[in-house]
Amino acid sequence: MSEKTPARILVLNGPNLNLLGTREPEIYGHETLKDVEELCRAAAAQAGFEVEFLQSNHEGALIDAIHAARGQVAGIVINPGAFTHTSIALADAISGVQLPAIEVHISNVHKREAFRHHSYISPVAASIIVGAGVNGYVLGVQQLIHLASR
Ligand code: DQA
Repeated sequence: MSEKTPARILVLNGPNLNLLGTREPEIYGHETLKDVEELCRAAAAQAGFEVEFLQSNHEGALIDAIHAARGQVAGIVINPGAFTHTSIALADAISGVQLPAIEVHISNVHKREAFRHHSYISPVAASIIVGAGVNGYVLGVQQLIHLASR
């Protein structure tokens, strides 16, 4: 890892992910967002990284968090929720800050409705993890640390 790369990563969650655990558990499982936060912190700590963890139901708040992350973190793990399928602004924010972003979806969006098959985020993501349940966040954290350590 270069001296200038902060040993810190941002994990961002978009709309409705605050409801994890009670929201359509047959699709998203029974783990809560707090469980996800703990999984991310534990995975990062193994490599000496800290995690900044944020969820918002508001597109602008997610964009502000991405802007604020510039220079402060090694990269971003992001589950943009439904903004994945709608938000050019979120994609522009990610490419604008030039931080590696790992796009995570708990469910396999490609097995679901057609409107979930397109992502505005994928073209600006370094990696995409879908359908691995909440372990996708752990894989995302590990992948970011891998990228930061090259
Ligand atoms: C999701 C998939 C999206 O289509 C959906 O709108 C979500 C969650 C997932 O983690 O599987 O809110 O990003």
